[in-house]
Amino acid sequence: DVLRGAKGDLAGRRVVISAGGTREAIDPVRFIGNRSSGLQGYALARTALARGAEVTLVAANVGLPDPAGARVVRVESAVQLRDAVLAAAGEADVVVMAAAVADFRPVSRATTKIKKTSDDPDPIYLTKNPDILAELGEVRRERRQDGKPYAEVLVGFAAETDDVLANGRAKLARKGCDLLVVNQVGENLAFGRPDNAATVLIADGDPVEIPRGPKEDLAGIVWDLVAARLV
Ligand code: CTP
Ligand code: CA
Repeated sequence: DVLRGAKGDLAGRRVVISAGGTREAIDPVRFIGNRSSGLQGYALARTALARGAEVTLVAANVGLPDPAGARVVRVESAVQLRDAVLAAAGEADVVVMAAAVADFRPVSRATTKIKKTSDDPDPIYLTKNPDILAELGEVRRERRQDGKPYAEVLVGFAAETDDVLANGRAKLARKGCDLLVVNQVGENLAFGRPDNAATVLIADGDPVEIPRGPKEDLAGIVWDLVAARLV
């Protein structure tokens, strides 16, 4: 059992974990969203707490109970998630971006409910959301140039199809993170399920395969890899 067997190897470490999936408002009652349940992020939070970490959990639209001992910040949109994660990251040793962040949001949000008429609706125009993980990587690069520490370990999650490893490698480099946990997605894989399989790509090392198993087990291996990088 990952929780019972836990070592205190993250004692005193401050970790920020984003979980869930963002919702981008169209009008007061509608949004563009995704299927992320938040289960993996919450498993990461529980596991980190059990290993002694101070956990800030930035939760986007998750219907799960708060893990005991975590500071939970609830957000809805990608912009809110960005603000919450960046506010907490300055004090953090580790940031794990397990949330599914919407890549786009409607350019404008109708202030009143869009009504059905006899005509087809107006198109919904989209604009890019900020890339939070890439921003964290960039802030860290700048801080390090000035000799200032910032988020010693940055972890991303990615769901890929097609050439899973090549896509993951390119993404790891683009985001400037240390670890990228890559899931293969397809029918019945990953979303909303308690178990998960993944490959962890490591910026300066060989990939680590995580066999299919509970999300708690995957979380435990991620924290092992993180702990090994913390000085
Ligand atoms: N991410 C982020 N901000 C975004 C989009 C993604 O911080 N606007 C983070 C996710 O939380 C995840 C990682 O980046 O940890 C990879 O997300 P993914 O959607 O796979 O990457 P994208 O750069 O959006 O690329 P893609 O075109 O494959 O969606
Ligand atoms: Ca994306």
